Amino acid sequence: MADYEKHAYDVVVIGAGGSGLRAAIAAHEAGARTAVICKSLLGKAHTVMAEGGIAAAMGNLYPDDNWQVHFRDTMRGGKLLNHWRMAELHAKEAPERVWELEQWGALFDRTPDGLISQRDFGGHRYARLAHVGDRTGLEMIRTLQQRTVSLGIDVYMECTVTDLLKDGDRVAGVFAYWRESGRFIVFETPTVILATGGIGKSWKVTSNSWEYTGDGHALALRAGATLVNMEFVQFHPTGMVWPPSVRGLLVTESVRGDGGVLRNSQGRRFMYDYIPDFFKAETSDSEAEGDRWYTDKVNNRRPAELLPRDEVARAINNEIKEGRGSPHGGVFLDIASRRSPEYIKKRLPSMYHQFMELAEVDITKEPMEIGPTCHYVMGGVEVDPDSAASIVTGLYAAGEVAGGMHGSNRLGGNSLSDLLVFGRRAGMHAAEFASGLSSARPQIAAADVEAAAAAALEPFEREGGENAYSIHQSLQQVMQDLVGIIRREPEMQEALATINDLRAKTAHLSVEGHRQYNPGWHLALDLRNMLLVSESVARAALERKESRGGHTRDDYPMTDNDYWGKRNVIVEADRDDHVRVRQQPLPVPPPELAALLEEQH
Ligand code: FUM
Repeated sequence: MADYEKHAYDVVVIGAGGSGLRAAIAAHEAGARTAVICKSLLGKAHTVMAEGGIAAAMGNLYPDDNWQVHFRDTMRGGKLLNHWRMAELHAKEAPERVWELEQWGALFDRTPDGLISQRDFGGHRYARLAHVGDRTGLEMIRTLQQRTVSLGIDVYMECTVTDLLKDGDRVAGVFAYWRESGRFIVFETPTVILATGGIGKSWKVTSNSWEYTGDGHALALRAGATLVNMEFVQFHPTGMVWPPSVRGLLVTESVRGDGGVLRNSQGRRFMYDYIPDFFKAETSDSEAEGDRWYTDKVNNRRPAELLPRDEVARAINNEIKEGRGSPHGGVFLDIASRRSPEYIKKRLPSMYHQFMELAEVDITKEPMEIGPTCHYVMGGVEVDPDSAASIVTGLYAAGEVAGGMHGSNRLGGNSLSDLLVFGRRAGMHAAEFASGLSSARPQIAAADVEAAAAAALEPFEREGGENAYSIHQSLQQVMQDLVGIIRREPEMQEALATINDLRAKTAHLSVEGHRQYNPGWHLALDLRNMLLVSESVARAALERKESRGGHTRDDYPMTDNDYWGKRNVIVEADRDDHVRVRQQPLPVPPPELAALLEEQH
């Protein structure tokens, strides 16, 4: 019999980034006994990597901004593959969530009139990112964390979930282990909110840190939930490329939002060579170089560096491929020649220190070397937009682990608002569901706990087997090279074959030592999730035979609005990690919202 500690709650939230904490606060405030489980220390989440701001149509700088324009920008940025209802709720509720955060103590930068300051970001018609210098995600986490702790919500830190436990087709609990002691812990609960973030650790160059191994995506699949549009992976255009130890570390889009420009090795602002007709009405070539702009379809003057991220990442990729890159395999991001040192240090303090300390580059004097870095997955658990419920009774998902909101490409700044809007909704609805159960709570079967414990301990039972670190390295290389920014069928087939081989190796994986803080064991358990999620991405990417947003196919370069513009790709799996994909019609917006998408002003 496995030895484990046991707890009971009404709502268990897995993940303590922005969506997890916002969900926990909402569930607690609705009267649910609530716990948060996090793999890392409280406060350490990818949320802090959304540095530039929270997108919300508050209209502080541009009074004409409103939810309708934000909705349209989000849908256009996602190339119209977003779930319209999620985009609608998000645009309508984001301002309220920002003001609420301020009431809870977040200290936003201000306009001269004392309003919350809003900055420009790619794909947004108006400057609408509420921000705190270039540390907005950090301030958001600090605020939510403080509220979580002050409300007395139970937090289980450095605790990793390996299995969801079910009673028939309902969620019944969670199986986890303490990272420090290796001891097991079981949570009996009728509702689980997945808020585990992304999947970036399956790629070699990524802004994600060690926690982001697709745990929530994999737990959902094994529990019988569906994932939607996993082929869409966002490569943020600007990650550090040098020195090698920090390759992939995020360079916030705020640098471009605040006036920074991209240049190739010939000094050319190459983004003007890559403006797609989808966005462009006309380009001004007669203006002085520093003031170049193009006019978009809604008659708005934009610098080409502020096109949506998918466009910018592809352009950078192409410049590098065609030999116009920087010495260390990136391109140049220049703000030094465009803004004063005082302005740069005030608006971008973290970037100033990051480059000074890690690369010995003074960004007030020299350009940065940057290149695309795997940052975010648009695909995720298919949820009901209003309640964040998956198709499995009692299982909810919010934030990056949920799919649909961002379509094929997320606009910068829309992640922080997404976390707040849908974190709150998930918490409220999970609490409501739990309270409606009265005494009929689902039961955990002892045999399921035994099976989860045996699976977790399996790697200790072999000696001289495969090594988790080398399997992980191979996976990262294959996803980087064969399922990256530009994709081709034979390469993705090769990636699937390699993933299959790597999965066979994990069945013979062994770890040395014992259960007390053993990173090799932790990675061995995470690998199962990374392989399942990587296969999901590769299979979905093979299925979608067009190019759109964060999915570019060399062999299908066109965007096919008539067929693929009306379809989602759905991923399912069984408990043995056998993956299947199928197509499903995209929900159609009601006429009044469809009309907004057509508007030219
Ligand atoms: O560039 C950034 O500051 C990242 C923001 C985001 O991913 O939303």
